[in-house]
Amino acid sequence: MVYITRRERFSAAHRLYKTGLSDEENFKLYGLCSNPNWHGHNYVLEVVVKGEVDPETGYLLDLKDLKEIIRKRVIEKVDHKNLNLDTDFMKGIIPSAENITIAIWNQLVDKIPKGALHSVKLFETENNYFEYKGE
Ligand code: NI
Repeated sequence: MVYITRRERFSAAHRLYKTGLSDEENFKLYGLCSNPNWHGHNYVLEVVVKGEVDPETGYLLDLKDLKEIIRKRVIEKVDHKNLNLDTDFMKGIIPSAENITIAIWNQLVDKIPKGALHSVKLFETENNYFEYKGE
C-alpha cells in the first residue's frame, strides 16, 4: 500500500456564527472568527490517497488527474470566496475548520479515480490542523 499526498492552498473568508444569537453572544462562542464583517484565512489542504502500485505504469494514480479533481471539486469553489455565501457545498453548514474538512472529504470521496481517499487535512493556521478519515 502506498500513500500519496497532494497539497493545495486556498484563501477564503468566513464568519462563524449561529443565527438567533447576538453579535456579543457569537463573540463569546467563536471569538475573532465571529467578526460580523468577515475575515480570512490562508488554508493549506492535504489530500491523501492510498492504493496499490499498478505494475504496468509504476503509478498508484496520475497526480495530474488528482490535481484536476481537487481543483474542480474544491479549489475553484473556495479560493478567494466567502465560505458562508459563495461555496455550494458549505450551504447551511457553520464553516469551522472541522466542518470544512468533512465537507471537502465528501466532495472528493467518490471521485478518486484509482485507490481510495485516505484522509483530508486542513491547516487553518500554522499551528492548527484538522484531519478527517471518513469516520
Ligand atoms: Ni476564522
